[in-house]
Amino acid sequence: MTHLMFVRGAAACLVLVALNAAVALWAKDPPKPPAEFQAGETKFKTNCAACHGEHGIGTIQGPPLVHKIYEPNHHGDAAFQRAAANGVRAHHWNFGNMPKIESVTPQDVDQITKYVRWLQRQAGIQ
Ligand code: HEC
Repeated sequence: MTHLMFVRGAAACLVLVALNAAVALWAKDPPKPPAEFQAGETKFKTNCAACHGEHGIGTIQGPPLVHKIYEPNHHGDAAFQRAAANGVRAHHWNFGNMPKIESVTPQDVDQITKYVRWLQRQAGIQ
């Protein structure tokens, strides 16, 4: 009996170790997005990552977009267009306001949004 419990404990431990390794890998080097999202990735890096972080994980200047708050049902694609076109008044966090981003067109934002949705799906947010 105790032996069985030990085996179970060890198995649970192994699962945890594997999970940790997966998380560490993700943080260091998330998978490259499929071709259809790569234009969005490039535009995200140029225009959004300074605040929202590489791969959307956030920085000290802005929140992670790979976050439950920004799942499609709560912040639909229109919220991304509005954010880029008009800026955002701080309301969810304490990072201050987001300025409007004049260097992107609605079409750019569309590509960026698709890339962010892909990142969210990789993290199990949908
Ligand atoms: C100068 C920093 C900065 C840049 C650059 C920036 N953001 Fe933001 N963004 C913020 C901050 C700060 C918030 C959080 C505001 C709050 O407290 O809710 C935010 C919030 C958002 C939101 C949530 C809007 C809502 O309705 O709550 C979206 C979507 C967003 N940003 C998308 C983008 C996209 C897309 C880009 C690039 C085109 C971008 N951001 C570039 C700082 C930035």
